[in-house]
Amino acid sequence: MQVLSSVSHRDPLRWCDLPDRPLRLDEVRVNVRAAGVNPVDWKMRQGDLLGVAQRILGPRGPLVVGVDFAGDVAQVGSNVTDLKVGDRVVGGTDFSRGQFGSYARQVQVRADQCALLPDNVDFADAACLPVAGVTAQTCLFSLGKLKERSDPRALILGASGGVGHFAVQLARIHGAVSVGVCSTRNVELVKRLGGIAIDYNQTDLQAAVAHHGPYDVIVDAVGGGAYAAKFCLQLLKPGGVRVLVVPSPADYLSIALPGPTVTVLGRPNRETLAPLVAELAAGRLQVVIQEKIPMDQAERAHEVSRAGKVVGKLVLVA
Ligand SMILES: NC(=O)c1ccc[n+]([C@@H]2O[C@H](COP(=O)([O-])OP(=O)(O)OC[C@H]3O[C@@H](n4cnc5c(N)ncnc54)[C@H](OP(=O)(O)O)[C@@H]3O)[C@@H](O)[C@H]2O)c1
Repeated sequence: MQVLSSVSHRDPLRWCDLPDRPLRLDEVRVNVRAAGVNPVDWKMRQGDLLGVAQRILGPRGPLVVGVDFAGDVAQVGSNVTDLKVGDRVVGGTDFSRGQFGSYARQVQVRADQCALLPDNVDFADAACLPVAGVTAQTCLFSLGKLKERSDPRALILGASGGVGHFAVQLARIHGAVSVGVCSTRNVELVKRLGGIAIDYNQTDLQAAVAHHGPYDVIVDAVGGGAYAAKFCLQLLKPGGVRVLVVPSPADYLSIALPGPTVTVLGRPNRETLAPLVAELAAGRLQVVIQEKIPMDQAERAHEVSRAGKVVGKLVLVA
């Protein structure tokens, strides 16, 4: 199996051959046609907390990053009855199950980590869904309970990024007032996605955001203290939830204590991906792709992502 790997966390990504491990009974082997790029991919290479966890729980051998993939099934384990060779699928790898990442020619994952793709859904679009789309969905609906609220209102901080551009749309699709905070250059994009765009460069940001609130859920997809707890908490309805997609150590106490601040871990699998695939296939959800990058140039993709200015998603194509 050919994978893009680095020997240690700081080495450049290079193609290398790994011996195929035998397919487990409940697994499928998938030819990777596209792999979405997420900040976690380069963060793991820098040895962040997840990188350490990967070293402890992940497979022995070189570091192969990447979670998101879309492609066609090449082989199925003997207990797999719901997928067959040739099926088009999208999914996410999971190092805690001993799996290598998706920057590879093929991945081996459990069948229930894959959702079927209809023919009208492009591999590149689908490959952008797993981490970013599932995280947005989890913030709004599992944690924010947006579908159970009356007069639902969502505020998305970081509305032009991977997580944010999905969150703006998903809130709107499910009937909520969807307000997205972004830079001046991304105001038109957020409006096009159906959100009320608020430019973070304006003088009284708090008043501009408060005008459309209070909110049932605030998704902070920026982190790094850009939007202070005080700023967010006074914008929440009673019973509202502030979801920190990127918690920093200063947030750990408020997350641990009962209260409105929580964090999220997006977990892509068949169950979490299927509703997103359905929205994509129906044309209600759009994937904004800043650039499709050949997988050979994954190193450049990481440089672009690391700069923190990506609009929508970057995706590696085989
Ligand atoms: N917990 C989880 O399960 C989970 C899942 C997915 C992602 N994450 C984390 O969440 C973060 C976001 O991920 P992502 O994929 O959405 O990242 P991304 O696509 O790289 O986000 C970049 C976007 O953020 C915008 N941005 C930067 N500073 C901003 C600010 N102060 N206010 C509003 N927008 C701002 C940028 O636009 P401008 O520069 O024009 O403002 C750019 O469009 C990353 O740190 C990632 O590691 C966590």
